[in-house]
Amino acid sequence: MVSTVTGGPPDGAEQTQGRPATGGTGTSPVAVRGAVDRTFWEGRRVLVTGHTGFKGAWLSLWLQEMGAQVTGVSDRVLPAPSLFEAASVGDRMTHRWVDVRDGPALVSAVRSAEPEVVFHLAAQSLVRTSLEEPVLTYETNVMGTVHLLEAVRQSPATRVTVVVTSDKCYDNADPNRPHREPDPMGGSDPYASSKGCAELVTGAYRSSYFARGGADACRVATARAGNVIGGGDWSRDRILADAMRTALGGTCLEVRNPESVRPWQHVLNPLSGYLLLAQRLWVSPDLAGGWNFGPDEKDTMSVRSLLELFGERWPGQFEWRHDGSPHPHEEPALRLDSSLARDGLGWQPTWDLARGIDAFTEWLCAYRDRDVQGAGETTRRQVGEFEQQMAEQADSPLVEPHAR
Ligand SMILES: NC(=O)c1ccc[n+]([C@@H]2O[C@H](COP(=O)([O-])OP(=O)(O)OC[C@H]3O[C@@H](n4cnc5c(N)ncnc54)[C@H](O)[C@@H]3O)[C@@H](O)[C@H]2O)c1
Repeated sequence: MVSTVTGGPPDGAEQTQGRPATGGTGTSPVAVRGAVDRTFWEGRRVLVTGHTGFKGAWLSLWLQEMGAQVTGVSDRVLPAPSLFEAASVGDRMTHRWVDVRDGPALVSAVRSAEPEVVFHLAAQSLVRTSLEEPVLTYETNVMGTVHLLEAVRQSPATRVTVVVTSDKCYDNADPNRPHREPDPMGGSDPYASSKGCAELVTGAYRSSYFARGGADACRVATARAGNVIGGGDWSRDRILADAMRTALGGTCLEVRNPESVRPWQHVLNPLSGYLLLAQRLWVSPDLAGGWNFGPDEKDTMSVRSLLELFGERWPGQFEWRHDGSPHPHEEPALRLDSSLARDGLGWQPTWDLARGIDAFTEWLCAYRDRDVQGAGETTRRQVGEFEQQMAEQADSPLVEPHAR
């Protein structure tokens, strides 16, 4: 595929060398729009940490559909009805039940899988839990990332590593300004700051160990995505996961902060970004750095607007009300500027939020009507539909010159 890529971006606090010159101003050259390339993933040895989680299950399933040899590393299966079980994600992959806080066990798991590509998603991923269990959160998200990078250092087969952090990694001093990749790291709660720390750890490992290894060294990037929605996320305190439970249960959803603004997107959008980033890193080591994957500006909206969109689509009763009792602080707004990924990787959200909520509602109806079987089938079909649409929107043939 032809690419406009001219160089790699830096991590958070570093300078902007290599960044496409005019990204985010509206005056940039038209970027070449890319797509996920099945020929790259077929037969590829890929390791996914956090494969039993919400994003990890969708990603593992997509990789399986493309013929990759997937190994998953997690500490547990999440409580039923987990997407991992509903979609039988475990049937076509190898499992390693490892706690990422256990460094030697993680080194051993990575060594035996000999992955060519690693996606690190395992994390304590919830803000509320991080306030209750800050030590567990830092151990998992920060030391877990250190252990993963140590394991990659000892894995000569690994050529690309994508560490998944969050849009919350940034210092959000001005909530109305969309974050760009060179912005300083921060975080006003243990979860957010653990993700900022994971970014800094990854940047230090890259410049200390991976950048010096020459052309054959592992290319290590980080991915910062906004709030994701999609079928199969049953986590507490995620707004559409809570909406899912109340819509199915016929109860009223209590909403803490209806005016909070977030960059919402369907889970397949950032996952397509992770896959595209890995494909591009395989041939272009100078793309190693931090990348934002967020929705278009119009899909950065309040919780209230998001719930209205869902309520218009859900075929049953759906009620919510503002819970005005005191709650822990949450950022009033988070915005992400993804022009670097658009200009530097050719990535764009394939589904806008309206389409994403349609997919979410369809998944929920399938689960309601046919339980886990409906959910599993719908998950696979949606992956196929998304991939096809991404390919149709791409500007050039999908095959890139990937040396194996
Ligand atoms: N879901 C979102 O809205 C969102 C937004 C931004 C960033 N992220 C990030 O994306 C990644 C995946 O998120 P998710 O929503 O799928 O999370 P999730 O909570 O659904 O899944 C987390 C996964 O990590 C595993 N895990 C947790 N602690 C572990 C440990 N100590 N050892 C090994 N495995 C462990 C779990 O078993 C599970 O497989 C996380 O890094 C998260 O911080 C998620």
